[in-house]
Amino acid sequence: MEELEKLIEQMTVEEKAALCIGATAWTTTAVERLDVPSIMVTDGPHGIRKVANQDVLIEKSMPATCFPTASCLASTWDTELLQKMGQAMAEEAHALDVDVILGPGANIKRTPLGGRNFEYFSEDPFLSGRMATALIDGIQSRGVGTSLKHYAVNNQEDHRLTINVVVDERALREIYLRGFEMAVKAAKPWTVMCAYNKVNGEYCSQHHRLLTEILKEEWGFEGLVMSDWGAVHDRVKALLAGLDLEMPGPQPRRLQKVVEAVQSGELEMGVLDEAVRRILPIVFMAREVEGPRTFDAKAHHQLAREIAAQGMVLLKNDGLLPLAEFERVAVIGHSAKVPYYQGGGSSHINPTQVDVPFTELRKYAPDSEWLFAQGYGEMGVYDPGLIDEAVSVAGSADVAVLFIALPASKESEGYDRADLDLTEHQVALIRAVAKVQPRTVVVLNSGSAVNLAPWVMDVSAVLMGWMMGQAGGGAVADILFGKVNPSGKLSETFPFRLEDTPAFINFPGGAGEVRYGEGLYVGYRYYDAQQMQVAFPFGFGLSYTTFEYSNLKVAESFEDTDGLKVTFDVTNTGGLAGKEIAQVYVHDREASLARPPKALKGFAKVALGPGETQTVAVDLDFRAFAFYHPKHKAWITEDGMFDILVGASAEDIRLSAATQMKSTLDLPSLLDEESTISEWLADPRGRVVLQPLMEQFQAQLQQVLGPDEEDGGMNFSGMIMDMPLASILMFQQDKLPVPPEDMVAGLLQQVHAGRS
Ligand code: GLC
Repeated sequence: MEELEKLIEQMTVEEKAALCIGATAWTTTAVERLDVPSIMVTDGPHGIRKVANQDVLIEKSMPATCFPTASCLASTWDTELLQKMGQAMAEEAHALDVDVILGPGANIKRTPLGGRNFEYFSEDPFLSGRMATALIDGIQSRGVGTSLKHYAVNNQEDHRLTINVVVDERALREIYLRGFEMAVKAAKPWTVMCAYNKVNGEYCSQHHRLLTEILKEEWGFEGLVMSDWGAVHDRVKALLAGLDLEMPGPQPRRLQKVVEAVQSGELEMGVLDEAVRRILPIVFMAREVEGPRTFDAKAHHQLAREIAAQGMVLLKNDGLLPLAEFERVAVIGHSAKVPYYQGGGSSHINPTQVDVPFTELRKYAPDSEWLFAQGYGEMGVYDPGLIDEAVSVAGSADVAVLFIALPASKESEGYDRADLDLTEHQVALIRAVAKVQPRTVVVLNSGSAVNLAPWVMDVSAVLMGWMMGQAGGGAVADILFGKVNPSGKLSETFPFRLEDTPAFINFPGGAGEVRYGEGLYVGYRYYDAQQMQVAFPFGFGLSYTTFEYSNLKVAESFEDTDGLKVTFDVTNTGGLAGKEIAQVYVHDREASLARPPKALKGFAKVALGPGETQTVAVDLDFRAFAFYHPKHKAWITEDGMFDILVGASAEDIRLSAATQMKSTLDLPSLLDEESTISEWLADPRGRVVLQPLMEQFQAQLQQVLGPDEEDGGMNFSGMIMDMPLASILMFQQDKLPVPPEDMVAGLLQQVHAGRS
């Protein structure tokens, strides 16, 4: 630390200001005089997008492995696999001389319409936080940095540069920040990238509460905060809020502005020093570890194939899969030959190679006769001729494999989707093919949930391939022919209709603002609360084998700080080896504030041979039971009964057990001058102080208000409970020894003095 302080002391204000703004689109500013090197940052969340010319934002990048995107990664529920992927990405970053990778993206999928949902993990903060942590751990374990993004509440592309997100404190904390909090605390990302949008009226790039109070002070983040590209509106305000590095550079006018602000006293040197104090360690750390200038592209391609196969989700299978070696196989669909394996925008990779699904499938059955039909065009325009051709090919075969990819025009960074639907042509194609070919498999490629309702009953099997990465074609073949037994489970709900989605009436907002009216009720939290049927629930996925759950054990009671160990057995009751992702949800039977019916707080993925049983242990900590209390401004626990729910999906709860939790918190009383009688009596300390007076109050008040009416109607005793204590005292101030307000003050003093 001494070295660092000495170095800062030697720097001029111009050098400090320069360090806090990029030198180019992708590099930080060196300070040659003091041997401070420049480092390179670049995208992205599922592969390295390094453009040859560091002054250019978007151009064809150097070849790198395009891994499956985040929605597929999260559907693996496999933290070890993501760590491996992170290590491979780091090797490629070293080879391409990149110091910090701009990812992962951990924003919550508030609506399936999000254009960048392919880059984000889940609708659930716990799964998202665990996946982000794993990827960051993997990348940083090899001496390459990451940038956890986009902090925060960046859940739509529509007006993303300026939209003001209006979100209540509990939804902010429990849904939109929770995944970031988990990853920051568990994985310590070198950097965090702030989002473009505003949150409750302030741009993220100058949001002191988000950047400094919560991220740096409350969570203990020690890395640097960088802006999204072009997200800074006022460099001085951003520095004051805790935004350390503005990207991209160069920004000579802003640099000069910072220098002038220091010279005029508008900006204290100490604030600038704090930003420099966060940037320098990252710059030197990045230079500490050098890796080989090459990477094993073949091995990484194989890893991408393994990950894709683990993340694909078998949504339906009437027994057709795994495919037998049929005589004649019809493969239909543009994306069978031109695979749809990644999304548009800043995450777009120039892959080292790309598996063509049609080619990969044929390798499994070289003696079969393989037929192909285009099925649909890239732009998704309705073309009956293509459907007729596909129907004749499918009708003449023993089985049809349909590759259906959402047109790139429907989802990408920069814009959101308008609906959940495939194109009209694609729906007509699927139905027409299924009509003539009862053995029809649909392989779907999209970054987020799509509407399958119009055709899912017509086909034999459906495999969700997501944006499967460059090796996805091979992974599809591995699953369809049974080399890999599918084990992926949905990291987001597939609703029946767009109108059923929680954000429907508030998305995408308007007049520069979007209100998160659904609050905490995002994804399965909403469908649970509404008791609404969905097409495919969060956590759902089929296997070629079957599993049974048994023997759930939890302590009957526990204290919050001790946490709770959950153990249960999973048995492979089928004839094939397979993997099962068991989910642990927590239900709070009663709380002083509203809570969704259940929330994911643990999971485990087990590999089991036929007939094999394994005992799974999942540890639930304090936060598994806590909720954020806006008045206490803290995560709190309250005594009470909880249900531990172990499920194969959010809708398929296999085991449950009740347990009594004791809170060890000694929370200050929330009572104040405005508190009502019922709040006084609900607060343990308030009850002790007020109870003796209650009998006296009620008798006197009945005289004033009159008795409750016999057959319903006016209920004065109910009214009394809902009145502030001070108002009650006003009724009988002539009987009080002191004025009502002094009486309340005295009672409050007793309550707050009573805190141990
Ligand atoms: C983009 C994206 C961000 C990306 C950055 C650099 O606007 O929002 O995810 O890392 O700019 O390309």
